[in-house]
Amino acid sequence: MDASFAATAAWATAADAADPLRALRDEFLIPSHAGSDGVYLCGNSLGLQPRGVRRVLDAELQSWAENAVEGHFKGTTPWLSYQATVRDGLTEVVGALPSEVVAMNTLGVNLHLLMASFYRPTRERPAILAEAGSFPTDRYALASQVRFHGFDPAEALIELEPDEPHGTLSLAAIERALDEHGARIALVLLPGVQYRTGQAFDLKAITALAHRHGCMVGFDLAHAVGNLPLALHDADVDFAVWCHYKYLNAGPGAVGGAFVHARHARADLPRLAGWWGNDEATRFLMRPEFQPTPGAEGWQISNPPIFALAPLRASLELFQRAGMPALVAKSRRLTGYLEWLVVTQLGDLLEVVTPPEPERRGAQLSLRVRAGRERGRALFDHLVAHGIVGDWREPDVIRVAPTPLYNRYADCLAFTHAVQAWSKH
Ligand SMILES: Cc1ncc(COP(=O)(O)O)c(C=O)c1O
Repeated sequence: MDASFAATAAWATAADAADPLRALRDEFLIPSHAGSDGVYLCGNSLGLQPRGVRRVLDAELQSWAENAVEGHFKGTTPWLSYQATVRDGLTEVVGALPSEVVAMNTLGVNLHLLMASFYRPTRERPAILAEAGSFPTDRYALASQVRFHGFDPAEALIELEPDEPHGTLSLAAIERALDEHGARIALVLLPGVQYRTGQAFDLKAITALAHRHGCMVGFDLAHAVGNLPLALHDADVDFAVWCHYKYLNAGPGAVGGAFVHARHARADLPRLAGWWGNDEATRFLMRPEFQPTPGAEGWQISNPPIFALAPLRASLELFQRAGMPALVAKSRRLTGYLEWLVVTQLGDLLEVVTPPEPERRGAQLSLRVRAGRERGRALFDHLVAHGIVGDWREPDVIRVAPTPLYNRYADCLAFTHAVQAWSKH
């Protein structure tokens, strides 16, 4: 923890004034509370609206009005190649080659689609290694895929229980499970950041361990993308999926994303195909044989929903302006400040569940309310009533995520003051 932190308005104001990324906050619409900016600490759930979103949506509405079907080929961003408008931004955010990323569908759908290719169980190797307590979609997807292939989740779904005091999972536990069951495991599927605890996983180390045992490796990066410094290509992961409505600020239900490592780009993997995954060179010849686009775009099924994709462009422009290294540097200090405030000012009320090491977490801190569920829920309601937005996870955790694109040190201090005020009344 940083010894230079102070729990004063003067310190927070000075830190915000010295923040090289401070101008980015003006690019977002901050919901107001009682006539001034509210304190939004919920970008891990739904990111705020970038001001540029209206511009890009208006442009596509205009193109539809003026060009109708010709909009596929006309205008500054023809719909036929709209995917290209997000490609560079995504490669920077996830650390990939341009051919390795695609924006399509939604997260849960992409998880199923990529598992259709990367989870190929056999009698000798039927199992999936996952975490216990994974997000419900992941649990349902994994169990239903196991059943879909004629296996029984009770035997073929190996779920790792947390082995660390606050409910986090050590790399050593993953290694032990692979040593014990590796020969039976077809796929390792883990999160980039655990949604409940905020723990970040070491993708590169997990991938290396899993590959040593001959397993495929996929990650659900819902809470990692736009939050952690990702290097998916170098980490050698086989595939990854994510959503764009959290740290990527592309709006409710925005199009999701997927990564397929370049070594699978031309592999003849079985997949669930559709016309938009067919190579653009022959797509409109309407042939009966499917000829996949090499790389991640070959997993597309349908033509992209332009109005759901456009906001992502506006958000990625801001990520590109800031650069992931600068965002991550600010994020670590900002979350470090919030953690310091919680530990030094609120330690008798709240316990930080998220790991303290900066490389084992992102922006989010999960705070367990020591007084239990009822008092915790009362605290949460008090915060919402005072314009401080985080989110609640049963039974007793408040999640808060200061995000470096639009949050301030002053927001962390406002959260602290609001919790103190509640504890006194
Ligand atoms: C970790 C995780 N996985 C999966 C999902 C489901 O995403 P979607 O509803 O976009 O498919 C979420 C949603 O918040 C999530 O947090």
